[in-house]
Amino acid sequence: MVLHCLRDGDAEPRVIQEGDTVVVYERFDAMKAVTVTTKGQYSNRFGNFAMKDWIGLPYGSRVHARAPDTGWAYVLAPTPELWTAVLRHRTQILYVADISMVIAMLELAPGAIVLESGTGSGSLTTSLARAVAPTGHVHTCEFHEQRAQLAREDFARNGLSDLVTVRHRNIERDGFPEELHGLADGLFLDLPGPWRAVPSAGRCLRPDGVFCAFSPCIEQVQRTCEALAKSGEFHCLQTMEVLVRSYEVSSVPLGVVAAGSAAEAQTTAAQAEEPVDDAALSEAEPPSKKPKADSELAAARSSQPLTPAPKARVLARPVAAGRGHTGYLTFARRAVPVAGQPVGVEAEDAGEAVGEQAQADDAEQ
Ligand SMILES: C[S@@+](CC[C@H](N)C(=O)[O-])C[C@H]1O[C@@H](n2cnc3c(N)ncnc32)[C@H](O)[C@@H]1O
Repeated sequence: MVLHCLRDGDAEPRVIQEGDTVVVYERFDAMKAVTVTTKGQYSNRFGNFAMKDWIGLPYGSRVHARAPDTGWAYVLAPTPELWTAVLRHRTQILYVADISMVIAMLELAPGAIVLESGTGSGSLTTSLARAVAPTGHVHTCEFHEQRAQLAREDFARNGLSDLVTVRHRNIERDGFPEELHGLADGLFLDLPGPWRAVPSAGRCLRPDGVFCAFSPCIEQVQRTCEALAKSGEFHCLQTMEVLVRSYEVSSVPLGVVAAGSAAEAQTTAAQAEEPVDDAALSEAEPPSKKPKADSELAAARSSQPLTPAPKARVLARPVAAGRGHTGYLTFARRAVPVAGQPVGVEAEDAGEAVGEQAQADDAEQ
């Protein structure tokens, strides 16, 4: 179940039960989905955990390794965002930055109907399902039969079967099925040749519905934009790239920071930092994560005066190795047909041309 957020009317926090999928969270870049069993063991660098200790605890609890290990982790309820972080990759996937932009720009809300292709690993599909739940639906099409089946199984395991229908279908060749024509509020393509599916998108989107294609290469974007413009059925074309700059928050021992030097503090942070357990900055690090040697840093700065500082300071600095280019998102809006009037970008161009001619005529008179 990845849609805990949709459960309503529950006064009590939901507790972990045998058979549940939980996300074991060590830190923002280290987490894993596991199925809880009474005999299950979970091991990581902080120790060995007995899963039966987790049963009956509210989701979000901190759980401790069995003695002699003293490490801990958090057991979280899987949300679409966490699922994207832990799912088994069968393909390249969309990550949260692109996903959030897609959902915002497609203007998805509960009750909406969304069409998608290809399904891939189901990363985007899971978030689409949450956006349109509880009364909307995601129709997703994938031409790789085994991938389609595995996606179906994932959606069933995550409690999404009522919200998602997976079809095995070649969308570039055959388009979306006829029964979906005119139904879609939003349509998303993550295909090698999205321009080939533009005519089908035009048939499936309701007037004023929004189209989106994700493409890693700008040549794909150009071809998609050309197809959208030539179709005469779309307007408001725009392409964007979503780049996220992440910051790492670190607790830095300040005994080694020279007096009055902010730059020195930054340098020290870079050398001495240990990632902060983000639940409680004031808490100690997980025991097995030994801080790097303060003495080495202190020795290097022994000629400088030391401040009588508090034990540690929290610093934030950009993560050096952030995710760079993933792909371009191209959006367009399905034009609303008005009797007797042309629609779409080509029509707008034609309108401009007519307007220019009219101005030229005016100038001549
Ligand atoms: C990059 S993956 C999609 C990943 C997905 N957006 C996610 O977030 O997990 C692209 C998928 O499109 C499928 N595909 C490629 N060509 C297709 C076509 N003509 N019709 C349907 N699916 C296609 C591939 O098999 C692949 O699974």
